[in-house]
Amino acid sequence: MATATAARTLARAIPRSTASSTSSLRLAARTSRNDAHAAKRFFQNSSRRHYSSAPEPPKSSSSTGIILGAAAAAALAGGFYYYNTQGKIPEVHLKKGSAGETAGLLKPTTEDYQKVYDAVAKLLWEKDDYDDGSYGPVLLRLAWHASGTYDAATGTGGSNGATMRFAPEGDHGANAGLKAARDFLEPVKEQFPWISYSDLWTLAGVCAVQEMQGPIIPWRPGRQDRDVAFCTPDGRLPDASKDQNHIRAIFGRMGFNDQEMVALSGAHALGRCHTDRSGFDGPWTFSPTVMTNDYFKLLMEEKWGWRSWNGPKQYQDKTSKSLMMLPTDMALIQDPIFKKYVEKYAKDGQAFFEDFSNVVCKLFELGVPFESKPEDRIRFKPTADES
Ligand code: HEM
Repeated sequence: MATATAARTLARAIPRSTASSTSSLRLAARTSRNDAHAAKRFFQNSSRRHYSSAPEPPKSSSSTGIILGAAAAAALAGGFYYYNTQGKIPEVHLKKGSAGETAGLLKPTTEDYQKVYDAVAKLLWEKDDYDDGSYGPVLLRLAWHASGTYDAATGTGGSNGATMRFAPEGDHGANAGLKAARDFLEPVKEQFPWISYSDLWTLAGVCAVQEMQGPIIPWRPGRQDRDVAFCTPDGRLPDASKDQNHIRAIFGRMGFNDQEMVALSGAHALGRCHTDRSGFDGPWTFSPTVMTNDYFKLLMEEKWGWRSWNGPKQYQDKTSKSLMMLPTDMALIQDPIFKKYVEKYAKDGQAFFEDFSNVVCKLFELGVPFESKPEDRIRFKPTADES
């Protein structure tokens, strides 16, 4: 359905002054612009229908909801609702048949997590005055930087902990600008105080990809917030000025193979670089708020040269001079093995979406000691799902 499809487009395509050599991209950019208007109209209506104007306190329901009022107090007395010793974040923790369960304090259900998803999606649609019209890209970057500190050899880092809340890690150069994403999620945390920050950040990353028309990314809860002592050392995230050896060293440390490294890099279809954050400048694609395989198409089809400017070395497209690639992006076509996968994803958007879904799911689960099984993963329903 046209309206529903449009409603899933959190799109504000970059206006283009010069024609690109890639006609499909031209079409994508135009479609995104049209969709953006329809999407906004649709969302204004649907938001009135579906959401209240102010965040609601958590609601209790007969058997599946979480009762955080009297029941929490009762459970506290019984030791069921305890403070995580490291993160000082209350966790709902019940045993089947326990007094806490009888008191009505239950484990969050899939529906409860879907409510968190819906709250993030609602904010994404409402707060459309940021950057290219969406907080989606920076939310994805927050989830990735929280997860991408993982070191498989020592089992340290990863999405379990949300240690970027603390100064040492939050102040790492690679995390510049991510406060905007963390602050964006604060009202959701207030609305659903039972969710850990580390679950919330990764869930928000999933929501961002799905609401920007990306693939469904299965997700499961189980991360616990940790204290400042668990901050990872600086230097675990990639340095954009480096080459393929660096990419393999950084992502190999997390446990990814070559194909997964290329699929993950497709996230740069979204968002942009900011001179006041990384020092780099500009978007990778013409529709930075819509998930597509355009990043790979542009790598293959555009001609790229060094941008001449007073900033860090980055590439610029020769046709419109409005797009950019980082040295690490270009390494994907300079390395013959990486290039094979770039070619594949440029030709086959569906293969990219499938691989992207799998690899982002894996990324967001790095370092998490789940009690649940992979088959327990939740597939969140996007806001304007047509089904
Ligand atoms: C070699 C690997 C990577 C390097 C060197 C790299 C580097 C960068 C840099 C320099 C920026 C610009 C930040 C700014 O100035 O605001 C950026 C933005 C971004 N990155 Fe990456 N990145 C890499 C991998 C990834 C991965 C694996 C993901 C997600 C799965 C990702 C998602 C994003 C997104 C969505 C943005 C846009 C953020 C925004 O618009 O605010 N990146 N990246």
